[in-house]
Amino acid sequence: MRGLRYMKIRPARLSDLPAITEIYNEAIRTTTATFDTEPKNEAQQLEWFRAHDGRHPILVAELDGSVVGWVCLSKWSDRCAYSGTAEISLYIKEGFRGKGIGRKLMEAIDAEARRLGLHTAILRIAEENVASLHLAERFGFRHVGVMREVGYKFGCWLDVHIMQKMYLEAKSPQNLKAEVSAECPDTGTESSEKRP
Ligand SMILES: CC(C)(COP(=O)(O)OP(=O)(O)OC[C@H]1O[C@@H](n2cnc3c(N)ncnc32)[C@H](O)[C@@H]1OP(=O)(O)O)[C@@H](O)C(=O)NCCC(=O)NCCS
Repeated sequence: MRGLRYMKIRPARLSDLPAITEIYNEAIRTTTATFDTEPKNEAQQLEWFRAHDGRHPILVAELDGSVVGWVCLSKWSDRCAYSGTAEISLYIKEGFRGKGIGRKLMEAIDAEARRLGLHTAILRIAEENVASLHLAERFGFRHVGVMREVGYKFGCWLDVHIMQKMYLEAKSPQNLKAEVSAECPDTGTESSEKRP
């Protein structure tokens, strides 16, 4: 592998989707990093790609013309009040892990989160994933809690750690309103739905 100085991190293009899918499907088949259990097909991936807008970018790491990893910000929820919250997903191609690519992609998505004025980011990390837990802590994510045995994969019940990073600690209602109002005009009104 050529040195990381030759690696380019850039927004994903539709033509990257087969490589992104290959990386993700390998993780589905062989790791507990994702709780998906069936490989994704082209149509599912296209829908996923199109659900990522300017506020929810997908970035890829390209080395020698090949995509060797990707990272994205995804909506945490379709409910409007969550519009300042995103979840980070990060996957490095098998054979390229442990070489610093994950760290570079985290740096890039962390910068994007700041640029986009994201309020907070969440990572859900399965208990076995020490590399991800380490990486999250390194980037200032705090351990919020553990959801006990919420996943079952490869014959085991698995805990999931919730890690969170605050980008804007806006406790002032004025700030909060300014931040979310563009996407979520009715945040001031009481929702008829009582669930978070
Ligand atoms: C987890 C993952 C994204 C990390 O990316 P990576 O390129 O392998 O990691 P890096 O080489 O950039 O290392 C990042 C840090 O984690 C540490 N690390 C890497 N692999 C590790 C391991 N197996 N155990 C403990 N720490 C590890 C590195 O030492 C480095 O720490 P440092 O920055 O303090 O030096 C990658 O291994 C991966 O894609 N794994 C499978 C999918 C996955 O788990 N995705 C995340 C879902 S939450």
